[in-house]
Amino acid sequence: MRENDDLRVLVRTIRDYPKPGIQFRDVSTLLLDGPAFRKTIDRMIALVDPDSFDFIAGIEARGFIVSAAMSYALEKGKVMLRKPGKLPGQSVSIDYALEYGTDQIEMHTDAIRPGQRVLLVDDLLATGGTAMAGVELLRGQGAVVDTALFIVDLPDLGGSAKLTAVQVEPMALMA
Ligand code: PRP
Ligand code: ADE
Repeated sequence: MRENDDLRVLVRTIRDYPKPGIQFRDVSTLLLDGPAFRKTIDRMIALVDPDSFDFIAGIEARGFIVSAAMSYALEKGKVMLRKPGKLPGQSVSIDYALEYGTDQIEMHTDAIRPGQRVLLVDDLLATGGTAMAGVELLRGQGAVVDTALFIVDLPDLGGSAKLTAVQVEPMALMA
């Protein structure tokens, strides 16, 4: 049995969603299992040193679920990286490409001060477009971002190889 196999089996694959040819790795089935969700968060927390960062940034929408649970457990403030038009305050945005299209994320310009250290968290790493945009956006505001954490990594899509700007912690449920 490989590490994390108990959780990996709870992520289902839906073919041809949202477009023909995409194998969608659906974490909703893992989230439905309370003890498994808790184990996922506990194992992610075990991969990081809480003294090495000040905030946790999560990417809307699925990334919010994971990052908020970690923020709660570690008592770390959470930076929201949101899809366009959702933030009420002055914001900066960045465009990016992902496996099935293009999108944009935004953050408040007053969310963090230069030099503050931010851990980036999302549910899944595929092509890496979203995570790289998150790193760029945060660094553009002066944040120090050196680690990113995901429940699922899809290495065949190249994200973990491309995301060299940060250390990707090995919580890879999908090989
Ligand atoms: C998914 C996932 C990651 C991103 C990964 O989000 O939650 O954020 O795709 O893909 P990439 O590595 O190719 O960039 P999606 O944009 O589908 O949004 P959602 O969380 O709102 O479902
Ligand atoms: N985001 C980008 N590619 C994905 C995939 N194959 N499954 C789930 N989320 C994704």
